[in-house]
Amino acid sequence: MNPTSAVDNHTRSFHLRVFGCQMNVYDGELMRSSFARRGWAEQEDPAQASLHVFHTCSVREQAEERVHGLLGELRRVKKADPSTVIAVVGCMADREGQELFAREPHVDIVCGSRHFPRLPDMVERVIGGEQRICELGEAAEPVDEERRDLLARPASYQAHVAVMRGCDLNCTYCIVPSVRGRVESRPPSAIVEEVRGLVEQGVTEVHLLGQTIDAYGRDLDRGDRPSLAGLLDALEEVEGLARIRMVTLHPSYIDRELAEAMARSSKFMRFLPVPIQSGSDSMLKRMKRGYNMKLYRQRIGLLREVMPDLELISDWIVGFPGETDEEFEASERAMEEIAFLQSYVFQYSPRPGTVAHDIQDDIPMQQKARRNHRLLELQRKIAKERTPTHVGQQDLVLLERESEKNPGQWFGRTRRGHYALVPEFPEARPGLEVPVDLVAYTGRELQAAHRLSSQELADLADKSPALIPAAKTPVLSFGV
Ligand code: SAH
Ligand code: SF4
Ligand code: F3S
Repeated sequence: MNPTSAVDNHTRSFHLRVFGCQMNVYDGELMRSSFARRGWAEQEDPAQASLHVFHTCSVREQAEERVHGLLGELRRVKKADPSTVIAVVGCMADREGQELFAREPHVDIVCGSRHFPRLPDMVERVIGGEQRICELGEAAEPVDEERRDLLARPASYQAHVAVMRGCDLNCTYCIVPSVRGRVESRPPSAIVEEVRGLVEQGVTEVHLLGQTIDAYGRDLDRGDRPSLAGLLDALEEVEGLARIRMVTLHPSYIDRELAEAMARSSKFMRFLPVPIQSGSDSMLKRMKRGYNMKLYRQRIGLLREVMPDLELISDWIVGFPGETDEEFEASERAMEEIAFLQSYVFQYSPRPGTVAHDIQDDIPMQQKARRNHRLLELQRKIAKERTPTHVGQQDLVLLERESEKNPGQWFGRTRRGHYALVPEFPEARPGLEVPVDLVAYTGRELQAAHRLSSQELADLADKSPALIPAAKTPVLSFGV
């Protein structure tokens, strides 16, 4: 007999909304698993959930305002059913702290980024009658100590893996160091074990995550300090893992040892985010990025010396206080000079508590929007020029999905991050990496032709890890 009544089932259902960076997506998966392990069922329809979890971002004002808007809508829900539990987790919790209760009195839990592993306990305490739980700042236990529970991970060939948390830099515009705390690196053995576990589930591409991932290990004792280079070498041994991506590098920490480890790795994807933010030395100084254009060029030069085929991704901020036309134009020139393949452009948003917040936000909104548009247009043009230069080359494409626009073709990415179409074959599936010739450019993506015969493709699929669907979040609870 099932001990759980329908009422229990309703009271043990949660709705999770995730905002912000990939680290939040990853932490969202960890949270899902820990609730599932305790018998909670995920509910896609918020109206059916008894627990609402917001995993939040503070990097720009807009992201916070969206959460406040959604919290506002829940006021009514909480009034109608006071047993509804509302938790605000992550960067906004850390930034607003107790003040969040003042603006949103119906919120029950404010849980900082380093405390979410204990969120299910906090929810139990609220159900038990405790009010307004607030846990912030550094935690006694490292966030990633436990082995990752794969129970509620979406079945995908791609997976995130945190290698470090926090940031020890102090860019003048950025809220991240104050909300995420100091750098805390995970032991390499835990990371490698987690990746192996993921590959057993059919994962072929991992994205290693850290705010300044190339600072990995620098917070640990000098004696047997791990490094990102050492981690790449260790991951080379993981059979079945096809690709490693990294998010995000900071130019200051790039050195020859790391560049060479990337170059010798057969799995490292030659597609790397090294955000520049601006191409103007005076802006970089005001942003306190810790490098100027000369140093940025040197570091990129080091990477491209050992990996001539490396493609780069950047973030840019437009409309930082005092940004002149000349300074903005320096960013346009840098985008062309470095020839990034992809860019994310952000309009400056003043964040309370940061150094830049005290400087007047003097660039009008329309000006920010114009600069944003101009940079994106330029990026599109550069990508359109760079991509066709790969026609005629051999590459590997990791299949993502069947192309909707191009029947009979699979959509994927080359080792250097270019979109490509691959003719379908019976064993094609997401996460399978196949060797191809790049034969044409469609104006949007590269067209690939198979280098392997049908029999060789079948053998390749047979040898590659197959996706094992992760267990679905149990719908009925088995008690807590
Ligand atoms: N650690 C990464 C960036 C993390 S935040 C790095 O140093 O590159 C992600 C991006 O958000 C940043 O690269 C920056 O472009 C943007 N960003 C951060 N603070 C911002 C702010 N106050 N206004 C607008 N964009 C911001
Ligand atoms: Fe923010 Fe700068 Fe740290 Fe990136 S390096 S997280 S932009 S402070
Ligand atoms: Fe946002 Fe926090 Fe990530 S501020 S970008 S969710 S580290």
